[in-house]
Amino acid sequence: QVSEALKSIARNQHIKSYIQQSNELYPLLLKAAKRFITGESRIDGIKIANELISKGYFISLEYIWENTTDLKECIKAKDQFLGLIEKMGSLSMNQTVSLDLSHIGLSVNPGTASSHLLELAQKAYQHGITLMISMEESAKTDDILDVYKKTSKHYPNVGITIQANLHRSSHDIQELIHYPGKIRMVKGAYQESSDIAMSRSKELNNRYLDFIEQLIEVNHPTSIATHDEILIQEMRQRQYLTHNAEIEMLYGIRPDLLKDLRGKGYNCKVYLTYGQEWFLYLCHRIAEYPENLYIAVANMIDP
Ligand code: FDA
Repeated sequence: QVSEALKSIARNQHIKSYIQQSNELYPLLLKAAKRFITGESRIDGIKIANELISKGYFISLEYIWENTTDLKECIKAKDQFLGLIEKMGSLSMNQTVSLDLSHIGLSVNPGTASSHLLELAQKAYQHGITLMISMEESAKTDDILDVYKKTSKHYPNVGITIQANLHRSSHDIQELIHYPGKIRMVKGAYQESSDIAMSRSKELNNRYLDFIEQLIEVNHPTSIATHDEILIQEMRQRQYLTHNAEIEMLYGIRPDLLKDLRGKGYNCKVYLTYGQEWFLYLCHRIAEYPENLYIAVANMIDP
């Protein structure tokens, strides 16, 4: 409930414009957010991406944007992603771009998202860049998977995120394993009813392990996207962290653990974001793990 309240505060337009107009609050909150986002502009994202790549990490970069039903806004977001792909291409950054389909048209209609994704996939393919589609609320899962499957037939450089907590995911994986794109496995961030998803539990962790095992067995390109140290330790013991698998974590979350894993020679990827919607992103990070509030405040007062 607290986390849902925090998310609605973040979406409140009055609060948003109050922060944007405040000369004191805006820079202070942005400083706090910078523990979790690279900054407001593409240059900020590229700069931190380059620093991480030079330290031996892979990166995935996302332009954060509001979920939009306005076609013009979707086109703007798609163009922003095109610009990002072109910039990364010009720097020979053969890495990953991540996006939500609802930012590029899914909420207008799936056909719009599909044609925008095709355009992005083609550009990314030319530059040797991977595009990873995020997974959103369960009401959108069918549409997201449909758009992914259509694109994946033409562009193997497009991958998909699967939420281990959804009951339907065991069936989806059986099907998706026959498509070439990378599968990013996450536990699931959205609040869903119990007939649709299971909550955090030992049972969910076991399911997560099962799904990763299924992907590793057939040597499918896999992203193990979790910050759960105990789960990662278990996967190391079971030798799931093969050359075709990577461990992917959000920027600013458990960097100590990711550094340690990189030092041990595993493929490690950092998921970076940039954009003006950083306040919503910051609230999401605090909502999912309230201890992040202390980290953000410490960042705020750090000289
Ligand atoms: P879980 O929440 O079970 O926590 C286990 C332990 O991990 C905690 O006890 C703590 O030690 C550590 N931990 C977890 N979160 C932390 C945090 N925020 N700060 C500090 N420590 C933390 N979800 C989704 O629904 N759709 C999507 O497309 C994506 N995409 C995505 C990409 C990537 C690269 C990542 C890492 C995650 C996502 N997610 C996502 C979010 C995902 O579903 C999940 O909500 C979070 O990763 C938290 O779950 P964990 O598996 O990390 O651990």
